[in-house]
Amino acid sequence: MTRTDRFDDIAGSAADDLQAELAERVRGEAHRLRHERLILYAGANILTPALESAFDATLSLMPYMGPPHDKEQPGSDFAASLEILTSRLACEVFEAAWADCRLPSCTIANLAVFACFTTPGDTILAPAASDGGHLSQRRGGTPSLFGLDIVDLPFDAAGQCLDAPAAAALIRAHRPRLVMLGRSVMLGPDTLEPVVSAARETGALTVYDLSHVAGLAAGGVFPNPLRAGVDLLTMSTYKTLAGPTGAIVAGTDPEMGARFAAFVDGALLANQDLSRLPALAGALAEFRDGGTYARRTVDLATSLKAALAAAGLPVLLPEAPAQSHQVVVPIGDLDATKAAMAALERGHLLVGRCPVPGEPGSHGLRFGSQLAARIGMAPVSLTAVAEAVATLLHTTRAAGRAPTDDHEAVLACRRAVMAALATTAPG
Ligand SMILES: Cc1ncc(COP(=O)(O)O)c(C=O)c1O
Repeated sequence: MTRTDRFDDIAGSAADDLQAELAERVRGEAHRLRHERLILYAGANILTPALESAFDATLSLMPYMGPPHDKEQPGSDFAASLEILTSRLACEVFEAAWADCRLPSCTIANLAVFACFTTPGDTILAPAASDGGHLSQRRGGTPSLFGLDIVDLPFDAAGQCLDAPAAAALIRAHRPRLVMLGRSVMLGPDTLEPVVSAARETGALTVYDLSHVAGLAAGGVFPNPLRAGVDLLTMSTYKTLAGPTGAIVAGTDPEMGARFAAFVDGALLANQDLSRLPALAGALAEFRDGGTYARRTVDLATSLKAALAAAGLPVLLPEAPAQSHQVVVPIGDLDATKAAMAALERGHLLVGRCPVPGEPGSHGLRFGSQLAARIGMAPVSLTAVAEAVATLLHTTRAAGRAPTDDHEAVLACRRAVMAALATTAPG
């Protein structure tokens, strides 16, 4: 159960005291997150000091409405030029003809794509929740909100990937308006060509939600779906892409880009948080200049996977090296998985949970190596953490609940976390 009472003691304070106290507590929380917790949550990252130095909330004072060349507000040249620079860099990195970097999150970006390119009542194909489909992609989530009729995409549990031949057959059978690809649990790339062929044949739009692996595609270690002929990319910018929160929508057809921009300007975006864009542009420029961080991320996931398996934990696709930043450790039912997550949190390790794709009702821990790679963690440090993780999870399973804060397995995990963080670059 998540605590929600941390600020009850200051809720009634005078504004000056409340502001000072909040500032102090924010500093404390930021310090804890940077220096006392190891974040192996697969959908998170950290801004490097260089990216942070271009982050200034003053830029978000004004709304800057409309297309870059025709902003409604005065004093918009800086904002418009930043929009142009960021989308130019996104186009270079993702080999796209157009890119829109203004939307605040990929959930909203997916909603924008549905609203721009489909009509309520249309059929779309999308990944099922139990196969790792995100709420902004799948049945019961954002597309249902927009009144779309959603058919689940087939999944290959043995290969932990889209069942591409079955998906192509489903496209031919249902003739959907749109096919939503990509998932929250992505252990490796899907085969896209049969899906793209079937979609082209039947007139379906293909959209790949790259949120989790955007930084890996940008760094050249995960296939760029645009190369396989996918029409549109949507993505979060703060996961493997390592920028601030936000979204990018990109594609290869300029007419589609013009339609999307007109839709966004006309119906979905008034203000935007401009302060995000310099850091996003800076992160994109790093990928344009090389893929070292992306390569290190996948290599680190391979080391983590091997170390968890060697320590006696089950991992999905145990024989293969990692092909993304993610490693999934199946645990069991949801309660057991929550207990495992809570145990790791006590050990100062932040790791998420996910359904085990292809095994409805089964859950596991989803680790991600991207933040550790970003702060320069060495594989050997992560291996030591993996051993402490295994001991803590075995202890939790045996007890049927997370051990208390003073349990030796918890304390050992904290020590391993601190030792691993001590080897990283300050930031
Ligand atoms: C596949 C996928 N799409 C969209 C999102 C949502 O991204 P955002 O947090 O930018 O809304 C996620 C987040 O985990 C995701 O995994």
